[in-house]
Amino acid sequence: MQVQPNGELKVLDRLIIFDTTLRDGEQAPGASMTVTDKLHIAGQLARLGVDVIEAGFPISSPGQREAVEVISSDVSGPVICALARAVPGDVEAAGNALRDAPRSRIHTFIATSDIHLAAKFDSPRYGRTLSEKRESILKMAVEAVRHASAFTDDIEFSAEDAGRTDIGYLTEIFRAVVEAGATTINIPDTTGYTTPSEYAEIFRQVRRDCGFGSDIVMSTHCHDDLGLAVANSLAAVSVGARQVECTINGLGERAGNAALEEIVMALRVRSDVFGVSTGIDARYLTETSKTVELASGHDVPACKAIVGANAFSHEAGIHQDGVLKERATYEIMRAEDVGNEGETIRLGRHSGRHGLFGRLDRLGITVADGDRDRVYSEFVALADRKKEVYEEDLRLIAEPLRQTTHEPRYTLEQIHVAVDTGDEPSAVVTVKNSQSGLETEYRATGDGPIDALYGAIDGAVGEGHDLLSYDIRSITRGADALGEVEVSIGSGSKRYYGKATNTDVIMASASAYLEALNKLVVYRSDVESVEFVASGIMQSFTGEGIDA
Ligand code: KIV
Ligand code: ZN
Repeated sequence: MQVQPNGELKVLDRLIIFDTTLRDGEQAPGASMTVTDKLHIAGQLARLGVDVIEAGFPISSPGQREAVEVISSDVSGPVICALARAVPGDVEAAGNALRDAPRSRIHTFIATSDIHLAAKFDSPRYGRTLSEKRESILKMAVEAVRHASAFTDDIEFSAEDAGRTDIGYLTEIFRAVVEAGATTINIPDTTGYTTPSEYAEIFRQVRRDCGFGSDIVMSTHCHDDLGLAVANSLAAVSVGARQVECTINGLGERAGNAALEEIVMALRVRSDVFGVSTGIDARYLTETSKTVELASGHDVPACKAIVGANAFSHEAGIHQDGVLKERATYEIMRAEDVGNEGETIRLGRHSGRHGLFGRLDRLGITVADGDRDRVYSEFVALADRKKEVYEEDLRLIAEPLRQTTHEPRYTLEQIHVAVDTGDEPSAVVTVKNSQSGLETEYRATGDGPIDALYGAIDGAVGEGHDLLSYDIRSITRGADALGEVEVSIGSGSKRYYGKATNTDVIMASASAYLEALNKLVVYRSDVESVEFVASGIMQSFTGEGIDA
């Protein structure tokens, strides 16, 4: 529903969201996913509320076929779709793989642009001249659609490289496939070549020249080679396209496909412009993005719209001040609307007093008027040294009680990590407790060198910790590159961060872990018991504790 300027309610047209993360998305170099991953993603897409899941291209590999079969039988809600070239073997493979789907679609395609016809159909059996080739392609398309109708009555036809196809030929082939039984006609900008106005014009001409009724859905499918995939998809929607093909995180061949999350939120935030609605429950967008990021191994850039780590973060003082007074000053949608529950005010070197004291307020830390200047200047000094200032850093600065315990409780005196072929990785560390003066050496083995190292540190301090995250990245280039390690460890509902940089990633990993550990010790309420345990009583560990 939309409230019109005259106050009347208008029922919005319903747009079909066709997700092709598992098919076109998986074509991104290095993104191939296991059948289990795909089933998991398909379940998540169903929860998200997509209308169609393109689950794979069954003829292309046994893994693709299996993924389509499993998703067809196990995922309910969306229509399950399989891709097929316009040849009988492909259509049969697609139809068979979809057998168990309560609602299935066969998506058949063939290239239609002159450049594709000349290069891909150069054999004389398709004809010698361009017009003979066009005729053969049209026949193949029609036959594939007829063949598909033996399996399902939901048939989509795509004219591959439609963005560069002669418009007269495009309308001719669309009329023919619809006559043969296609119910969705897809107009892919396969190479990401068109501009929004050009792409919209193709839809206008197809609609005008083919004269389809509302029973035939016109669909967009845009690639992002010029960064225009989302803009082109939306331009098509504004002239009557009622299906958008897209992928989570914009994953896909080359520069990727139109990003589902961007399309959905653009349509929602600017429903005044587009006047269409979707069945997507946007609160699942962040979670779905993370699922695909993990399964595909393609990291989402921090600045990515909607689902990037910084998409809803404010660091600049002026922005933080504005948002704290009125969110709408710098936010056109709310982080929680897309399922992002993270902190939106990020404290760093660009933050101002409002951001700092606003956060302290939310943490329940009251700073006396007389202390505010000191706290602010300590924060600025720390922010200059660190990229981001975390909650525990703030507590250190702002809570007077904590300031007496600035000196780290634990320091690393010695470290030795061994990885030998055939042997379990092992680590021996010596950790000094600055309060008791006691040095404890501990040896542990683990699944890998870091696991062994953290096991040894835990043993030396006398308690185990949950490693909640471990991130390592190279921050300079070359063989002597600096590695930056960021870890977080948990205790109850709290999370403590540590970060360190070193050319030796093992040293960086150890220092980051100890930093997090030292913060935990400072902030936990049962300081006494930590001291007791850390002074050498280590009954709960499997490694060997050796008091030095
Ligand atoms: O980009 C493209 O043309 C495709 C088709 C198979 C629809 O992915
Ligand atoms: Zn594509």
